[in-house]
Parts: sequence; C-alpha cells; structure tokens
Amino acid sequence: MLELTLPPISILVLHGPNLNLLGQREPGIYGSLTLPEINRLLAAAAIKLQAKVIPVQSNHEGILVDSIHEALGQYQGILINAGAYTHTSVALRDAIAAVNLPTVEVHLSNIYRREDFRHHSFIAPVAIGQISGFGVQSYLLGLQALVDYLRKDERAST
Ligand code: DQA
Repeated sequence: MLELTLPPISILVLHGPNLNLLGQREPGIYGSLTLPEINRLLAAAAIKLQAKVIPVQSNHEGILVDSIHEALGQYQGILINAGAYTHTSVALRDAIAAVNLPTVEVHLSNIYRREDFRHHSFIAPVAIGQISGFGVQSYLLGLQALVDYLRKDERAST
C-alpha cells in the first residue's frame, strides 16, 4: 500500500509550574500519571500524526517566555498547559501574541468547575482553542487539533 508521507510538523509542548510534580500532586484532581509518562504518550501520538513534540517544563515564568520566543523559526505550533500562570500571566499571553504561532491551551482539570480564580485564562484569547477537564486526553486531543489545524494551514498556503 502507498504510504503517504507528510512534511514533519514540530510542536513545542510547554508545561508550566508544579506540573513536574504530577503523579504525586493532588492525584484526585490531576490524575496519577507523571509528567514523563504524559510526555511519552504525547510522543507516541505525535508519531502517528507524523509530527514531533519537544517538551519543556519550567516553574519560572521568564523561562517559559524565553521558550515561546525561541519557538519562532523552530516550531510550527505550541501546546501549552501554563498551570497557575494561565490565570495570572500577561507576560505569557503577550509572548504568544508576539510570536503569533498557533497555540492550543490545555488543562488536565476542568478549570471552570473549580475555584473562581481559575475561571479566567489570559492565554485563551491568544490561543486557537482550549481543552480542559479530560486529564491526559486534554493534551492528546489538543495535539491532534493543533496538528490538524497546521495541516489545513499548510494546504491553504500551497
Ligand atoms: C491546571 C489548572 C490550573 O488552574 C492549575 O494551577 C494547574 C494545573 C490543569 O492542568 O488542570 O497547575 O493547568
């Protein structure tokens, strides 16, 4: 059978503060998978989508901002779980707007069913979409949606 090879798509996966503690951090809310396990599932899903994911986790806002800047020219899109910075960081929002790379926002928990302070996202207005509440599936669905969006973009520009 003819295998259709698509041009590779590289996605920067950004994990914000405290996500390095997944597995032991409030498992009733965030589940029992560790961050390396989530990254492995993303890498396997990316292969099926003929894409590549490069994960970066940081507890520091400035490092996340730097990673977004450095994505320009290296990656076609960004998948981000900004953790608590989702609700506080104008700097992350501005960095995403500045690089203008298609970005999908994901959350393991459903931020709208939780405390009021989690209901506002500074990232949402600069993201192409948001997926919240499906545990690791939020990441996997987000990746699929982002790659799909980028492939459509590719087709439109050829
Ligand atoms: C989170 C939700 C945020 O409110 C929280 O601060 C996190 C994780 C999630 O994935 O559900 O750190 O982004």
